[in-house]
Amino acid sequence: MPYEVQGVIARGKGEPVSLETVVVPDPGPGEAVVNVQACGVCHTDLHYREGGINDDFPFLLGHEAAGIVEAVGQGVDTVAPGDYVILNWRAVCGNCRACLRGRPWYCFNTHNAKQKMTLADGTELSPALGIGAFLEKTLVAAGQCTKVDPAAAPAVAGLLGCGVMAGLGAAINTGGVTRGDSVAVIGCGGVGNAAVLGASLAGARRIIAVDVDDRKLEWAREFGATHTINSRGADPVEGIRELTDGNGADVVIEAVGRPETYKQAFYARDLAGTVVLVGVPTPDMTLELPLLDVFGRGGALKSSWYGDCLPSRDFPMLIDLYLQGRLNLDGFVTETIALGEVEEAFAKMGRGEVLRSVVVL
Ligand SMILES: NC(=O)c1ccc[n+]([C@@H]2O[C@H](COP(=O)([O-])OP(=O)(O)OC[C@H]3O[C@@H](n4cnc5c(N)ncnc54)[C@H](O)[C@@H]3O)[C@@H](O)[C@H]2O)c1
Ligand SMILES: [Zn+2]
Ligand SMILES: [Zn+2]
Repeated sequence: MPYEVQGVIARGKGEPVSLETVVVPDPGPGEAVVNVQACGVCHTDLHYREGGINDDFPFLLGHEAAGIVEAVGQGVDTVAPGDYVILNWRAVCGNCRACLRGRPWYCFNTHNAKQKMTLADGTELSPALGIGAFLEKTLVAAGQCTKVDPAAAPAVAGLLGCGVMAGLGAAINTGGVTRGDSVAVIGCGGVGNAAVLGASLAGARRIIAVDVDDRKLEWAREFGATHTINSRGADPVEGIRELTDGNGADVVIEAVGRPETYKQAFYARDLAGTVVLVGVPTPDMTLELPLLDVFGRGGALKSSWYGDCLPSRDFPMLIDLYLQGRLNLDGFVTETIALGEVEEAFAKMGRGEVLRSVVVL
């Protein structure tokens, strides 16, 4: 029997989200239904609602979640009912050219559920990032479920399912931050502050947090920033250079997703340094840079999807560090809210009042 549950739907560009009945099919081969216990509100959900990702409305929002497996379909042996899991949005295939070359975090053929969740009238839904977890029960590919230690509360664990993993991984995996590096992070929301935390975990010597909002910068200090710059009143490129003996940072992470902040990142890095773009731009954005600067400054310009993580490798490890008191994941949960409060959470995000509002079901 399919399940009928309540979910958060974005019906049209810029329209407020609504709570509606969603029909969730029984899991088919290779699929699982998960009882969602918590799901964080990520800026990417807002991008979807604003039509900034694509036009496949209606969207079923939410993609940063943890919960308990309710049922699995035929042939599923990696998870079983009762398992405590974090949902991931890149279930690697194991067979594409990236996977076969031993670089599965770049997998070019990641899996999602084959069946569709629908509205009560049969309208097919597009789940955000192939998950859709502002929903009491959701249907995913079994590979999207990563088992972790159930001692970690769902509101915290779920955050590794997107923004916090994206930020940690942008620093550690994509940026390759290592002991002694200088790192700057531009944009210190949930993702950027997770990059600050990642840089700190990796042993960076200087960690410079940049934002236009002092509240975000105060949080950044708690996650390990050694210096902060409010770029509303100051040039962050100059500021970062001053704090790095005039040179720029070894790794600069852009966690806003705008051409002007990308340019700041580009010029705030040391020669041969690395820029990591983790902020998600919208389709209308373009970037112009002198090609001679791109060439002459050397180094690496990278983008980071999901922090180049491998959920099976990284989620259990990070949860262990958290449970040992070595990774401040609690600091990202600014508030817990109900399913009906996602629209309000978007407004709070817009006003800069939260790192993460987390829906608890
Ligand atoms: N690449 C990925 O895998 C991935 C995953 C999750 C989220 N994201 C993206 O990362 C970005 C950040 O997400 P979030 O959830 O942290 O959002 P957020 O809204 O919580 O944070 C954005 C931060 O940028 C700051 N900011 C805005 N304009 C700025 C400017 N000009 N200079 C400096 N700071 C500025 C804001 O004050 C805020 O603190 C979004 O674009 C989101 O879509 C990417
Ligand atoms: Zn693959
Ligand atoms: Zn996200």
